Amino acid sequence: MTEPTRVLFVCLGNICRSPAAEGVFLHLLAQRQLEDQFVVDSAGTGGWHTGRPADRRMQAAAAQRGLTLTSRARQLQLADLTSFDHILTMDDDNLAQVRGLSGELGSRADLARIEPLTRYCREHQAEAVPDPYYGGPEGFDRVLDLLFDACLGLVEHLRPSP
Ligand code: 4NP
Repeated sequence: MTEPTRVLFVCLGNICRSPAAEGVFLHLLAQRQLEDQFVVDSAGTGGWHTGRPADRRMQAAAAQRGLTLTSRARQLQLADLTSFDHILTMDDDNLAQVRGLSGELGSRADLARIEPLTRYCREHQAEAVPDPYYGGPEGFDRVLDLLFDACLGLVEHLRPSP
């Protein structure tokens, strides 16, 4: 049995984008019967919402696509940078924060690979998954459109070869 691949999605508050990314990625893994081969989690660079479920608007938009979001918000920890294999960020601010934190660890061999999730989009041209928190419902749908595209690309990239 090989070790599972550990994947962490990171946004700002861990109540909108990264819990949805976690839910979408888990859904795609389940469809492919790959759940056993991955450990999936999400975190926020900020800690204001620690312990809270995903934002109701994000939950509602996800439910429209058959997803249930079960995660509780937590703040990113320094230890996450070495306990996960891959950290996927939603926007430039998240990326800079995570890279800044990783700078505290120097160039350790066990550091996660840190990259923007939109790098894995194949249909959409997007530099970021935009923060939907202060906008209308269409922003949450846009988040899910980008997440489905990028997470599909990510699953295909990370799935073990047969
Ligand atoms: P998220 O969205 O980073 O996608 O979870 C946000 C959630 C909360 C806040 C900002 C963005 N906030 O300012 O509280």
